[in-house]
Amino acid sequence: MEPITIPCALIGLGHVGRSFLRILETKAPVLAARYGLVFLPILVADSSGVALRPQGFEPGTLRAHKEAGGRVADLAEYLPNASVAELLESSGCRLLLDASPVNLETGEPGLPLARRALSLGIPCVLANKAPLVLAFQELEQLAQEHAAGLAFSATVCGALPVINIGQRDLIGGEIALFQGILNSTTNFILTEMTLGRSYAEALAEAQRRGIAEADPTLDVEGWDAANKLVIVANAVLGYPARLEEVSVEGITGLTPEHLDLLSGEGKVIKLLASAQRREDGSYRLQVAPTELPLFSFLGGCAGWEMGVEFHSDLYGRMYHKIWERDPLPTAAAMLRDAVNLWRG
Ligand SMILES: NC(=O)c1ccc[n+]([C@@H]2O[C@H](COP(=O)([O-])OP(=O)(O)OC[C@H]3O[C@@H](n4cnc5c(N)ncnc54)[C@H](OP(=O)(O)O)[C@@H]3O)[C@@H](O)[C@H]2O)c1
Repeated sequence: MEPITIPCALIGLGHVGRSFLRILETKAPVLAARYGLVFLPILVADSSGVALRPQGFEPGTLRAHKEAGGRVADLAEYLPNASVAELLESSGCRLLLDASPVNLETGEPGLPLARRALSLGIPCVLANKAPLVLAFQELEQLAQEHAAGLAFSATVCGALPVINIGQRDLIGGEIALFQGILNSTTNFILTEMTLGRSYAEALAEAQRRGIAEADPTLDVEGWDAANKLVIVANAVLGYPARLEEVSVEGITGLTPEHLDLLSGEGKVIKLLASAQRREDGSYRLQVAPTELPLFSFLGGCAGWEMGVEFHSDLYGRMYHKIWERDPLPTAAAMLRDAVNLWRG
């Protein structure tokens, strides 16, 4: 059977966007043979603007252009006075992939683009958390009204399928407690600090590997984990949480001396995100450095690992973890979402 070609818009050509292009480069035959799908980036954008190539950009060439320091504005197909929002419909785009930075103030560029795409019936795959944190209910409603898929498994713990498991595999369960280490930059920093490395050195390594947020204060001050907790609450716990209700404390106040002291007692400090169910069905949401026994599931998640626990009435206690130290698995989660949207 001839594979179906899906013209896509790819917003953001940074660590995740370029990793997504690398997957298209290397996995095109697999995607065509196994799933009958060809994802063709026709509309691409970075901070310099947008370019349109109706016959599709060659993923390897585009990735190499960006890796060499090139901008979208340098491409022959650059459209100086155009915007992605305007071009979404006229270009024939059938999928929006958002790998642009988190902006919790305005939601730009991701939120208006997701709104526009869903209103046009164009499915969206998001790695960017901001649109969901700012407008989860609205986007879900738009997706339903316009029968457009909305998938975001890449937004929580990279490629660990927290959202998928929560939505698909806990049917009928009541989750009394969800908790996890949702941010690998801080987990890596804390582990390295216990091994004697400085906070600054460890953060620099996370940035070099493309794991840290573009604005790393989101990681170290706990907001990235809080964003993920809000998404889990809305998408999995059925609780319409807002970021303002999460109690948030980051890791910037922790000292190596403090970490040393605890390790002598068989404990570790982790930046723990938790959602604890209250009697009335709402959840108490918190992100805070928390002492855990070293030999507990989350206490044992070290370095580049992230992990989550679901405690529920029907499914016992579920424990899941992942090790990832570059953005490729997150890009792969976008791919899995895109394929699943089409299969669905
Ligand atoms: N890195 C990870 O491991 C990871 C894991 C899970 C989720 N995420 C999420 O994935 C998203 C991308 O992360 P990243 O690490 O790839 O970030 P990044 O390396 O900073 O890349 C961001 C990309 O977005 C572009 N951009 C900035 N403003 C834009 C605008 N107004 N319109 C269009 N594009 C714009 C940037 O353009 P320039 O190239 O011109 O700077 C860059 O190409 C973020 O929302 C992040 O939270 C990342």
